[in-house]
Amino acid sequence: MSITTIINNRISYLYYHTSLIIKKNLIMTNNLKLSLLLFIFSFVIISCNDDDDTTEPVGEEKITYDKHVKKIIDSNCLGCHGAEVANGAPNSLTNYTEVKTASAGVTSRVADGSMPAGGGSLSATQKKTIADWAKDGFLEK
Ligand code: HEC
Repeated sequence: MSITTIINNRISYLYYHTSLIIKKNLIMTNNLKLSLLLFIFSFVIISCNDDDDTTEPVGEEKITYDKHVKKIIDSNCLGCHGAEVANGAPNSLTNYTEVKTASAGVTSRVADGSMPAGGGSLSATQKKTIADWAKDGFLEK
């Protein structure tokens, strides 16, 4: 069931519920307060459910080197792991093959925070991107 269908169903449900409450009010005006409460309550329930819908994955995008990983490595690692290595770094991380070859080390050193060395650090989101790249199988594109 698509999100649009779910929302449409909810809207029809709301209209139905509202018209029931209005009818009830016409018949039993002394129950106005209770009906108003029910009406507000149904809004609360509906908005809570809508929140849940937005957390459902709409379509999972795989993490790839080209799209997500390269820019993180380029701006945080190449100072030492460039085409000409510097500051004692043992290997270059300038392209997919080099990063893939070192991928076990890249994943663990990023996860434990020991890379980037030299005072830099990756954001939690960047760390998660590298971890998810590993989970998705170190895709290039
Ligand atoms: C300031 C320089 C510097 C930066 C920036 C840096 N590194 Fe390093 N890296 C080193 C040095 C020096 C070593 C070797 C010493 C060690 O293993 O701690 C190393 C080692 C590594 C190793 C282990 C390689 C091996 O085969 O033993 C990996 C993997 C690595 N770095 C990944 C990264 C990643 C990924 C980044 C960016 C997020 C990064 N490094 C940023 C200096 C740096």
